[in-house]
Order: sequence, then structure tokens, then C-alpha cells
Amino acid sequence: MQTRLTKALNIAHPILCAPMAFASGGALAAATTQAGGLGFIGGGYGDADWLDEQFEIAGDTDVGCGFITWSLANNPALLKQVLDKSPRAIFLSFGNPAPFAAQIHAANVPLICQVQTLRDAKHAISIGAQYIVAQGTEAGGHGEVRTTFTLVPEVADYIANNAPKTILIAAGGIADGRGLAATLMLGADGVLIGSRLLATTQALVHPNLLQALFNATGDDALRSKIVDIVRGRYWPDRYTINLIQNAFSDEWHDRSDELRTNTDAQNSWNNALMTGDANIANIFVGQGAGLINATDSTANVITEIMADASQHLSRWA
Ligand SMILES: Cc1cc2nc3c(=O)[nH]c(=O)nc-3n(C[C@H](O)[C@H](O)[C@H](O)COP(=O)(O)O)c2cc1C
Repeated sequence: MQTRLTKALNIAHPILCAPMAFASGGALAAATTQAGGLGFIGGGYGDADWLDEQFEIAGDTDVGCGFITWSLANNPALLKQVLDKSPRAIFLSFGNPAPFAAQIHAANVPLICQVQTLRDAKHAISIGAQYIVAQGTEAGGHGEVRTTFTLVPEVADYIANNAPKTILIAAGGIADGRGLAATLMLGADGVLIGSRLLATTQALVHPNLLQALFNATGDDALRSKIVDIVRGRYWPDRYTINLIQNAFSDEWHDRSDELRTNTDAQNSWNNALMTGDANIANIFVGQGAGLINATDSTANVITEIMADASQHLSRWA
């Protein structure tokens, strides 16, 4: 399957693995690239030693790296550290990418910006992002309220009329070949997948939390602020995080002000994340949860999505 994305990045399949903070390490990123897509190390909030280790694990395999933009602004030296490793691309999401664009362009590294609104897509294009990821609210992890189903075609129209060389990638709720085929029809050139690739042998995630994902349906996904409060991560107001509900979120989702001052509750969540107590710690996945039922290798997941998408596309051709 050839698209503008596969041609631009010289990859076999139009699938990128999301730079999931703490979960997408060098192993998952490299496995995605080796399976024919392109993988990203989840630089997240930025830890210089962790980034070095994960690039070391990826070895000679081409991978990109993602940063949470507002957090990178607190430690901009991380960008040079990663650019010095010749990443395949830099992926910025959640915040203003403008202050970093010139440095990324000067290094001749493609800039991918993930956006949640048409307004931010226009801004990212205006500062020279060659790739836009339109992320719908179905997505795991942080995001906003626009749906994949309307955001992707709206950004596709804007690109077609104003910046036709820009490549468009869809994200949010894409967990199988139907999702890939559907978003190509919405005007995307490929997809970015997070939640489905979290359930792989290469992702960094506690098996008990994965079991909570397998037990869940899309109905169990909840956009909330509570896990940012318990982790002491002060995200801009506009973003919430998609997680699978459990006893902890049932108790605290509507009481976030009280949670801010309850250190016992905060500590119990953070301990539970380490021990894998899925009644307390939440797994951060989105509405695609109901389509994800087992762990598999990254290579098998990507092969299956491609086969499934091709079958759907030829059936309806
Ligand atoms: C566990 C998890 C962690 C994530 N962390 C990040 C992150 O650090 N930076 C980022 O840009 N996006 C992050 N995301 C969002 C992804 O980039 C992507 O938009 C999302 O996974 C796509 O939707 P899907 O999960 O339905 O595939 C994360 C997603 C998940 C599931």
C-alpha cells in the first residue's frame, strides 16, 4: 500500500507508532520500523539518561523521537541531545512548536506536529511542519474534544487548498485495519497508532494494567485530569488524559479539587502504578480499548492491520 506518507518517509506501510511517554522505548520504536512502519521513542517529559538508553536499544534502526512540547520548553537542551543522534523525525505535541521549528529545520530533520484542532493545524503548517497528525478525542493519552471523524477531513481540506505538500496522519481510535482504511478515506495519508501498540511484547507497560485494557470496552474510556494531579504534572487546562476507569477514578474523577490536597490518595496511585494494582492505577488508553484483546508482537500487529485494511479497501473498491 503506497501513500504520500510511505513515499515521503520511504517506508513500506503507512503506520507510525506513537511516541508514548514511558511506554514507547527503543524496543517498540525499532520493532515498528523493522515491521515496515516508523517508530518513535516517547521522549515525553524528557529524561536525558532515559533517552540515551532508549536510542542505544534502538541501535542502528531508524527511529524518531517525540516530545511533549510545553515540557520541552522547560528543558530545551534535550532537543539538541536528540538531534545529535540523527532521528528520522521529531514529533511535537501539546503546546506551541514555533520556538523549536528553526532548530529542527536547520538539522534537516522532518518535523511532525500532532494537533487537536484545525486552528493548531494551521499554526503548525505556518511554522513549517511537513507532517500533521490530526488527533481525535478517541485517542489514548492526552488530547482534546474534536473527533477523528471530523477533524481529519477538515484538516485534509485545509491542506489540499493551502499547503498541498503537507502530509496528513490520522490518530485516535485506530486499532485495526478498518480504522486504517476508514481514515485513508477521510483524507489521511497514514495513521499514528498508540493504544493498540501498547499491547505488544515490546512496549514498556505492566502486564496487570494490560489485563485491565483487555477487560475494558470503549465505554470504559474516560477523559480526566486526575492522573495528572496525582503525578504532579501540571498540564495546560485544555488537555485531559484518556484512561480506563477503575475504582480510583470512580472515587476521584468528580472530586479533583480534594485530590489535589490528598497526598495519601496521590501516593497510593503512584505506588499502584509500580506494583501493577489496576484497581488503583489507570492504564492510559482510549476508546479503541474495545478493539484490543491480547498482547502480540509489534510485527504481527502491523502485519495484521495491513492485511485487514487491504482486504477492506479491495472489497469496497
Ligand atoms: C499510553 C500513552 C501515552 C501517550 N503519550 C504520549 C506522549 O508522551 N506524547 C504524545 O505526543 N502523545 C502521546 N500519546 C498520544 C499518542 O500520540 C496518540 O495520539 C494516540 O495514542 C493515538 O490514539 P490511539 O491511542 O487510539 O491509537 C500517548 C498515548 C498513549 C496510549
